Amino acid sequence: MILVDGQPATVVDVADRGLAYGDGLFETMRLHQGQITRLDLHLARLQQDCQRLRLNPDLVALKQELEAVAQACVGGVIKLMVTRGSGQRGYASDPQQAARRIVQHSALPDWPQSNFTEGVALFACQTRLARQPLLAGIKHLNRLEQVLARAEWNSSEYAEGLMLDTAGLVTDGVFSNLFFVRAGELHTPLLDQAGVAGVMRAQILELAQQLGLNTYQRPIELHELSSMEEVLCCNSLYGIWPVRRYADLEWPVGALTLDLQQRIANGE
Ligand SMILES: Cc1ncc(COP(=O)(O)O)c(C=O)c1O
Repeated sequence: MILVDGQPATVVDVADRGLAYGDGLFETMRLHQGQITRLDLHLARLQQDCQRLRLNPDLVALKQELEAVAQACVGGVIKLMVTRGSGQRGYASDPQQAARRIVQHSALPDWPQSNFTEGVALFACQTRLARQPLLAGIKHLNRLEQVLARAEWNSSEYAEGLMLDTAGLVTDGVFSNLFFVRAGELHTPLLDQAGVAGVMRAQILELAQQLGLNTYQRPIELHELSSMEEVLCCNSLYGIWPVRRYADLEWPVGALTLDLQQRIANGE
C-alpha cells in the first residue's frame, strides 16, 4: 500500500525534487498491531529536520495518512518520505510549492534470530562520511554514502558495517547508530558533523537517563574501541543488536546491551 499526497499510487512525478536532488527527508517506522511504534519521536524528529531544511509538509494530512496505512496494514514497516514536491529544472525552489508526502508499507525484514542473541559482526567500510554540519544528523534523502558503503560487502557474515567520517571518527552504522559501553557508562558518536541521529538512538539516550546511566555524546576515535567492554548497534526497525566483532576486535554479548534490548522490546 502506497499513498502519495493521500491518494493510492505507485508512481511519483518525474519532476519531484526528491528524485532530482534528494531534496527531502524520510522516516522508517515499525508497525505493530496497527500502531506505529515511537510515532511521537518520529514526528518530532521529522519536524525538527523539516525546519532545518525549510520544508513545510501538511502535518495534519500526514498524520491521517500514517493512521490510514497503519490501520490497513497492521504490521511491518512504514516508510514516510517528505519531498519539496515537483519543481522546474534547476536548484531554485518555489517557497509556495507544497511538500509531497509519500507513505509506503512493506514487510519487516527477516533478520536471523542470532543477530539479537549472539550478536553481529560489523564490516569495516572504506567509504567515509563527509563532514557537513548543515546536514549532519538529518535523515535526508541523499544516502549515496550508505549505498556505496553497503556495496562493499555481500557476505552474510556481516549484518552491518561501521562507517568513519572523513576525519577518521567513528560515526554510524550503514543503517544504524552505535553505542559503546565502558565502566557502566554509554558513549555514542556526537553526530554534529556527519551521520543520522536516529530515533532509536534518542530512545536509548532517554532510557539511559531514566536508568541513571551516564551517557556521553562525543567524538569517538577508532583506537578507543579496543577499550570498550560492550558494543551495540540500533535502529527503529530491529531495535538493538549486540556487536561481537569489528576488524580484529571482539566483544562479548554484554549484560547492559541485553538489558537495554529487553527494555526496548518491552516498549520502554
Ligand atoms: C545512516 C543511518 N543511521 C542511523 C539510522 C537509524 O535511524 P532510526 O533509529 O531512526 O531508525 C538509520 C536508519 O535507517 C540510517 O539509515
